[in-house]
Amino acid sequence: MTVRRLGAASLESLLGEWRNGGTANEDLADRLRLLMLDGRIPVGTRLPAERELASRLAVSRTTVAATYKRLRDDGYVASQQGSGSEARLPRHPFARADDAASPVLDTIDLTKAAMPCAPQVGPAVLRAAEQLPRFAADWDYDAVGLPHLRQAIADRYTAQGLPTEADEIMVTIGAQHAIGLLSRVLVSRGDRVVIETPTYPHAQRALLEAGARFVPISVTAEDGWDAEALEHAFERTSPQLAYVMPDFHNPTGASMSPAVRDRLLRAAARQGTTVLVDETTAELDIDRDGARSRFIPVSAGDTGASVVNIGSIGKTVWGGLRIGWIRADRPLIARLVAARTSLDLGTPILEQLAVAELLPELDEIIAARRVQLRRSRDRVEELLAERFPSWHVPHVPGGLAIWAGLGQPVSSALTLTARTNGLIMAAGPWFGSDGAFERFLRVPITYPVDTLERAVDRLHAAWLAIGGTRHQPRMLATTLV
Ligand SMILES: Cc1ncc(COP(=O)(O)O)c(C=O)c1O
Repeated sequence: MTVRRLGAASLESLLGEWRNGGTANEDLADRLRLLMLDGRIPVGTRLPAERELASRLAVSRTTVAATYKRLRDDGYVASQQGSGSEARLPRHPFARADDAASPVLDTIDLTKAAMPCAPQVGPAVLRAAEQLPRFAADWDYDAVGLPHLRQAIADRYTAQGLPTEADEIMVTIGAQHAIGLLSRVLVSRGDRVVIETPTYPHAQRALLEAGARFVPISVTAEDGWDAEALEHAFERTSPQLAYVMPDFHNPTGASMSPAVRDRLLRAAARQGTTVLVDETTAELDIDRDGARSRFIPVSAGDTGASVVNIGSIGKTVWGGLRIGWIRADRPLIARLVAARTSLDLGTPILEQLAVAELLPELDEIIAARRVQLRRSRDRVEELLAERFPSWHVPHVPGGLAIWAGLGQPVSSALTLTARTNGLIMAAGPWFGSDGAFERFLRVPITYPVDTLERAVDRLHAAWLAIGGTRHQPRMLATTLV
C-alpha cells in the first residue's frame, strides 16, 4: 500500500480556521479528528512531523506532541518509532476511547445523498436469477456489458434525444467506476482538468489520483455557472478534460441553461477538451422549470466538442446495485475495455440481468422518486427556514440535496458537534479542496421525512451548542442522544 504523506502546508489549508476557543491542542485534535472521520484525511495518511507542523501553525512543538498524543489515546493516530504518525479510525468513531462503552446508538447518517432501494429491485433480481442459466454458459468475465443491456441503455439515450448504438455503451460497476476508468485513460500526470467547485468529491479524488491539475470553475446554487469565466478558463489553460454535472449538480442542485451548455461545448471544442458529463443525478427532477421540462442528455450537436456521458441506476433505483455506464465513441470504448483489466475483470452478470429487467420500469420508478423527493425537499426547506432563520436555503428544483449557506465559516465545527449528537453529515469543505466551503452544508433530501425531521432536531441542537458562532463549547460538552 502506498502511504500518502500530508505536508504541513497541505494540512494547514485542510485545517482552515481550527482555533475554537479551547486550548490549542484540544482545538487542533478536534479538527484533525473531523478531517479523519469525514475522509478528508484518509486512513493510513502519514501526518506531518511534529516540528514541521508546529512551525507551520505557529504553535509550540509541545502543542503538536500533545495533540498527537490525544489522538493516539483516542485511536485516531498510530505512531511508530522511525515512521511517524499515521491517521487511523477507532472502533467506535463516535465515542471517545474513554467512553467506548457507550457509543451513540441510533446514529443518523446523512453523508450519503442516496435514496432507499426501489421496491421493484427484489422482483427484478428474482427474474434475473431465473435467466442466469441461459447466460452462464457464454458469459463470465464481462468487461463491456451484456448485449441486451447495452442495447437497452442505448435505446434510452435515443428516446431521450441522443441517438446511440449499443457499441457506444460500456457497462461499468457504477458511475464511480466509470469516472475512475475515464480518469485513468484520459488524464496523464500534470494534465489540466476543469472541475466545478464545489463538486462531487469522489470524482475529484479519482481525477487527482490520475495526476490532474485542476482548473476550478465556480458553481453556485443561485446563479449556476458563469459562462464568461468558464470560457476564459478554457482559453487560458487548454484543458485536457472537463468534468461537469450540468443537471442537478451535486451538491448545489443547479442546472446549466441551454445557452451556457452551448458555450461550454464550443469553448471545449476550440481547445480540443473532452467534456465528461456526469448525468448520474440528472433525471431526479422535482419541478424542473418550463424551458427544459424533460431530461435531454448533453450531446455535442453541431459544436464539434468531444462529449462522454456517464449514467447510473445508483441514484434513481438503488446504490446497492452497482451498475453504471459510459456512452462514448467506439475507439474510446475499446481503450476503456483494454484499460479495465488491471482494476477489475468485469461487471457482475446477475446485476446486469437485473438492471436489464428494471430499465423498462425506470420511468415509473423515477416518477415515484419525484414524489418522495418533493415531499422531503418541501419539508426540509420548511424545517431549515423555521430552525435556522439566519441560513440561506436555496430552493432546488431537483437533485439530491440542498446546499445551505450558513452565513459563517462553521461547517466543520457544526458537523463535529452534530456527530456527538448522533448525526453524521459531510461538512462543506468535503466538496471543495483546500478547506473552502466552510460556510456551506449539504443537506440531503433523499431520506424519508421522519428521518429528516429527527436529523434537523439534532442539527439544531448542534447549532445551538456551537452558538452559531466561531466560538463554541468543547466537542465533548454536548450530550449524547
Ligand atoms: C454526481 C455523482 N456521480 C457519480 C456518483 C457515483 O454513482 P455510483 O453509485 O453509480 O457509482 C455519485 C454518487 O454519489 C454522484 O453523486
